[in-house]
Amino acid sequence: MKILSLESSCDETSAAVLSETKEGPVLLSNVVSSQIDIHKKYGGVVPEVAARAHIENIIPVIEEALKESKTTLAGIDYFAVTRGPGLIGSLVVGVETAKALAQATGKPLIPLNHLEGHIYANFLEKEKPKFPIIALLASGGHTILILMRDHLNYEVIGSTRDDAAGEAFDKGAKILELGYPGGPIISALAESGDENAYPFPTIDLTESPKRNKDGFLVKPELSMDFSFSGLKTALLNIVKGKGKLTERDKKDLSASYQKAIIDHLVQNSLRAVKKYHPKSFILSGGVAANKKLRERLGGSIKGESKNVSFKVPESILCTDNAGMMAATAYYKVKKAEGKIKSDLDFSAEPNLELN
Ligand code: KG4
Ligand code: ZN
Repeated sequence: MKILSLESSCDETSAAVLSETKEGPVLLSNVVSSQIDIHKKYGGVVPEVAARAHIENIIPVIEEALKESKTTLAGIDYFAVTRGPGLIGSLVVGVETAKALAQATGKPLIPLNHLEGHIYANFLEKEKPKFPIIALLASGGHTILILMRDHLNYEVIGSTRDDAAGEAFDKGAKILELGYPGGPIISALAESGDENAYPFPTIDLTESPKRNKDGFLVKPELSMDFSFSGLKTALLNIVKGKGKLTERDKKDLSASYQKAIIDHLVQNSLRAVKKYHPKSFILSGGVAANKKLRERLGGSIKGESKNVSFKVPESILCTDNAGMMAATAYYKVKKAEGKIKSDLDFSAEPNLELN
């Protein structure tokens, strides 16, 4: 079985070919054309520019993915595409191209949720995660803790109340005048900075207060929700107070700010592990490419319980790519026992939710 998938939800145009082997799903190609160089002069993704670049890139990227996998369109059994969430103009390019491919070849098309893709990047690893799973998805647009009792079954147990973790990195980099995207730049600078140089507040949210049967308010439970906007404001206040920043300041501020973001992600992840006792904990999304987060979270989870395996995909599979979408499609085909219906009657959905 071979699947060709497309991903164009933000600023990466990507196509991948996945093949089923005795060991499970394996990527034969995963071509990513990044638009970072185009957008970086604007300090962030410009939606109209992104859509136009996807139109230019999508056919060459598909051709490259087919060539690398030594496959032709006739050898593809299923097509798959990210339907949402993401930028509408970007999504439409992938969705309409995928529909054309499915229609022209008569093969089924599977519409997918981008967030599922990030989670399923972990199922491309040789050693598969085991259920129940806790997944932490931290990207530029989302920060969610998810409980998975089985394949394609998601219960959101924590999500951000304001900014996403990747957004916190990107906005922090803007405040420090470092450029775009913020995550990789801040993490590189942080390597030679002192993470204890600046104090940032500890973020610790609670659930909304509830009443007991006698009508009295009870102490609210600790929450697994996230909030990053306070850290961004704290950084802004420090920077305003300092005036012109030296290179040393930028390194120390990057390291301290990164530590505060990671502390918050780790704290809530441990809360989820204590509450749900998963067999595997998986980290995914663009922020999962962060080396320090991978080390800290992995170490803390091992310290909490020897029975939980910690998994994170290789960095190229953490940021947006079509390979992770092909992996999701593979498990959908398996669940439907091959009887998947082609779906051409759908449109791009910028606000698609996980369920
Ligand atoms: O998953 P992704 O590629 O796109 C979305 O679906 O949003 O994530 C992009 C986000 C950006 O905010 C970027 O700054 C962040 O992931 N990111 C990182 C690192 N690499 C990318 N954040 C922290 N450390 C990194 N090394
Ligand atoms: Zn993403």
